[in-house]
Amino acid sequence: MTRMISRRGFIAWSALLGSGVLSGVKADRVFSAKGAVGRNNVISTWRHGLAANEAAAEILRNGKSALDAVEAGVRVSEGDPDVTSVGYGGLPDEQGRVTLDASIMNSKGNAGAVGCIENIKHPISVARKVMEETDHVMIVGAGATEFAKLHGFKEEDLLTEKARKAHLEWKAKLSDKDDWLPPPKEDDHDTIGMIAQDDRGDIAGACTTSGLRFKIHGRVGDSPIVGAGMYVDNEVGGAAATGRGEAVIKIAGSHLVVENMRRGASPMEAIEEALKRIIKAHNGNPEFQVAFIAISKQGEFGALALRKGFQYALFRNGANKLYDGEYLLS
Ligand code: GLY
Repeated sequence: MTRMISRRGFIAWSALLGSGVLSGVKADRVFSAKGAVGRNNVISTWRHGLAANEAAAEILRNGKSALDAVEAGVRVSEGDPDVTSVGYGGLPDEQGRVTLDASIMNSKGNAGAVGCIENIKHPISVARKVMEETDHVMIVGAGATEFAKLHGFKEEDLLTEKARKAHLEWKAKLSDKDDWLPPPKEDDHDTIGMIAQDDRGDIAGACTTSGLRFKIHGRVGDSPIVGAGMYVDNEVGGAAATGRGEAVIKIAGSHLVVENMRRGASPMEAIEEALKRIIKAHNGNPEFQVAFIAISKQGEFGALALRKGFQYALFRNGANKLYDGEYLLS
């Protein structure tokens, strides 16, 4: 059931909590901090974001850029075979092919992305190559793999035994009653989105995923679409999304979150407004998960989901912790 959310415009976060509009589980409300809260901050989605944050924080500690940090950070999830929603070990599409999407954006407003790339373990680094070595923004499919190979990336089989078995099981269970995609589980891990702010206050973002498991071959989600899965405006802040990509694309979700912050919303308020659009577009009760994370230029954080189960990892003031995400629908 959707709770009533009738007030217009942006509402103070504290008022929201008091009103019961938000039904989320308790989490440290670091995102409500006012003003700058220090630099070298990293926020990322899901439990696997913890290890990714560690790698990103190490880069920041060495004085490198937020861009270097987000690339190094999400590469950890891409390379981890136990993370079945990103990179190597990601669950395949309907044909048993692992196809990956990724985007990256720097503090100068430049972006690079790859969609439906196959056999390349670190699509985020290919996306960075697109950004830095071409005047294009996005390369997809066989062209993306070809581009990666030309730039020295190794072709390798990304389908792990675990993922292959999951695909076989899914195929075996297909019937005319199937809803094509299995229903989301509350603890489903998904895309890693990461936003980092470096010592200079510059912000960068990255987003990388194997997308919906058992998707139609060629399907591309929100993650590589700049403004949907991830967006950065270094004067304002950055945001990234996880969950049902189609819903995020339709509201240009991460761009919307950043634009809400530009108009004065805190990261939390900005995300709430974006999620409300999704709720409205799905008759008040979207039957899927979407969550956003965000950092403002002032160093405030936000993380909020449609539904229970979302977790995010936050590196701040030298400590890296996992938090249960607040959520809007019960
Ligand atoms: N958010 C990932 C996807 O929908 O592909």
